[in-house]
Amino acid sequence: MSRIAYVNGRYLPFRDAKVHVEDRGYQFADGAYEVCEVRGGRLIDERRHVARLARSLGELRMRMPMSPAALGVILREVVARNRIGYGIVYLQISRGVARRDLAFPSPEVAPTIVATARPLNMARNEAFAQKGIAVVSVPDNRWGRVDIKTVGLLPNVLARQAAIDRGARDAWFVDKDGKVTEAASANAWIVTPAGALVTRHADHAILRGITRTVTLDVIKAQGLTVEERGFSLKEAYAAREAFETSASQIVMPVVSIDGHRIGDGKPGPIAVALRRAFHRFAEAS
Ligand code: PDD
Repeated sequence: MSRIAYVNGRYLPFRDAKVHVEDRGYQFADGAYEVCEVRGGRLIDERRHVARLARSLGELRMRMPMSPAALGVILREVVARNRIGYGIVYLQISRGVARRDLAFPSPEVAPTIVATARPLNMARNEAFAQKGIAVVSVPDNRWGRVDIKTVGLLPNVLARQAAIDRGARDAWFVDKDGKVTEAASANAWIVTPAGALVTRHADHAILRGITRTVTLDVIKAQGLTVEERGFSLKEAYAAREAFETSASQIVMPVVSIDGHRIGDGKPGPIAVALRRAFHRFAEAS
């Protein structure tokens, strides 16, 4: 079955799904995106993802190109046309096509809107979650507004590749104060020896993950202690558990950081319980 993408109002076979060479997303990473989990053919936390997209666009001084409901129709259509049961849907909006010039096009041009969907391998994801993943730390050399979900991901690309080159699956960014910010495309968490869950406060140095937000709801409902603050690598090496959260992985246990075994080297019970409970707290639509 051929894949179908949405491009500026049309549903097209992949080979015809093209964007202009002078698109500002391509030339300047001048755009924002969202990734939403699809489960049982339904969108997970669509409302929150679309709200975050609106926020990202606002920070970039772009308007939402259409209502949240209309965007939802497109996302669902892309999921249906690609027959996705379990997978992800991707939505990207750039400032549009214009002669290459840093300043915003004047007069304003239509934004470029693209949506794609692809299946994920649930068995493979579950296998990773059952084993846990290894991560390595890398210096956080990103710009000061990574709370905006822009398509400018070069440091994340290099971090992920550095992790793979070092035999790990993901990278955790560490800021100039020695505190972990987040993973290359996920939020980072530890469980302290005293049993508190720690994840960095949502300032301009992390993306406020939707999975992070829902995981906080699960944690509160389970009566666990949570501290939203930075934590050092030293604290992470000594943690009882570690994990990361993102739409495509939900709660993914981390069993090794820079070669230091975390806990007993197996996924921790809190991470496993959060992973199990997650979809009872997420919205499906
Ligand atoms: N990434 N931090 C970064 C840098 C991310 O890119 C992501 C998501 C997250 C987690 O956000 P959420 O829980 O809303 O997925 C945190 C998506 C999945 C991606 O780029 O594929």
